[in-house]
Amino acid sequence: MEIALKNPAKKTATRSKQPAAVAKTPKTVKLPGHIYDYPKYYDLIFGSDCQAELNFLQDCFDCFADRKVKSLFEPACGTGRLMIRFAKLGFRISGNDLNDKAVDFCNRRLVKYGYRPTAFVADMCDFQLKKPVDAAFNTINSFRHLEHPEMAAAHMRVMADAVAPGGLYVLGLHLTPAEPAEIVEESWTAARGPLKIRSKMWLVDRPAPRIETYRMKYQVTKPNGREVLEDQFNFLTYNVQQVLDLFAAEPRWEIAAIFDFTYDIQQPVALTDATEDVVFVLRRVD
Ligand SMILES: C[S@@+](CC[C@H](N)C(=O)[O-])C[C@H]1O[C@@H](n2cnc3c(N)ncnc32)[C@H](O)[C@@H]1O
Repeated sequence: MEIALKNPAKKTATRSKQPAAVAKTPKTVKLPGHIYDYPKYYDLIFGSDCQAELNFLQDCFDCFADRKVKSLFEPACGTGRLMIRFAKLGFRISGNDLNDKAVDFCNRRLVKYGYRPTAFVADMCDFQLKKPVDAAFNTINSFRHLEHPEMAAAHMRVMADAVAPGGLYVLGLHLTPAEPAEIVEESWTAARGPLKIRSKMWLVDRPAPRIETYRMKYQVTKPNGREVLEDQFNFLTYNVQQVLDLFAAEPRWEIAAIFDFTYDIQQPVALTDATEDVVFVLRRVD
C-alpha cells in the first residue's frame, strides 16, 4: 500500500494495461459460403444420432437384397457420417459428393480410422463406379437437391449401373402430400464440448412448379465468439405419382418395400395422398 501511494503514476499505468474485467458481448461473425462448406458443423448437427438409420439400413440389406451385402455406395455422401460407421462395421464403402470440402472431411476421417479415402467429388447424376456395389443408400432428402426431373431420371439410371443385380438402393425423401402444411420449419441443436450449434431450416418460397426454396441457418457458439451462417437452396418436390413414375422410367428398379422415417423394419407403410416422409427400398433387377 505504501508503494502505491508513493508512486501513483505507475499505479495508473499498470491499471490501463490490465483493465478491470467487464462482461463483453461475444462478437458474431457472419460466415461466407454455403452450409455444406462447413463439414464440421454439418457433421455435428446431422451426425450425432445415426444409430436408427444404421440399424434400419442393415435390416434392409438382410431382408430385401438378393445377394450378400458387403460393398456399399452412398451418393451425395456429405461428411460420410454413415460411411464411417459402416466402415467400422466391416463393409467396403465408397461415396461421392459435389462439395469438395465435405469429401475432404469424409476422406480425412476414413484415413484417421485406418480406412481408404474412398469418397470422391462427383455429381450424383453423372458418375461411374469401377465395379457395381451390393447396395447403396441416400437417406435424408439429398436426392431432392436434383432440381430437374431429368436430373433425377439420370440419377436413377447411373444408380442402376452402380448397383449389381439383386442389390438395393435405399432412398429416403419427403413427399408433398395432397394438402401440404402451411408452415414448414425444422430446428435442431447439437453440442460437442464447448461447440454448440443451433440449426434452423424453413420454407421461404415456391418459385416454380415443383420447386421449393428453403433457407437454413446455423448459429454457432464457441468459447471465443459466435458465428452465423444463412444459406438457401432449392428442393424438387414429388407427390406419390411423380415418384412412382420416376421409378417406373428405369425398369432396372423394382420397389421391394416402403417404410417411413421412423426406420422400423417391422412397420412397412402404404403410400397414400397424405404420405410425407418415405423410404423406398428399391431392388435392382436383371
Ligand atoms: C443433406 S446433405 C446429406 C449428406 C449425407 N448423405 C448425409 O446423410 O449426411 C446433402 C448433400 O448432397 C450434396 N449434393 C447436392 N447436390 C449434389 C449432386 N448433384 N451430386 C452430389 N452431391 C450433391 C451436398 O453437397 C450435400 O453434401
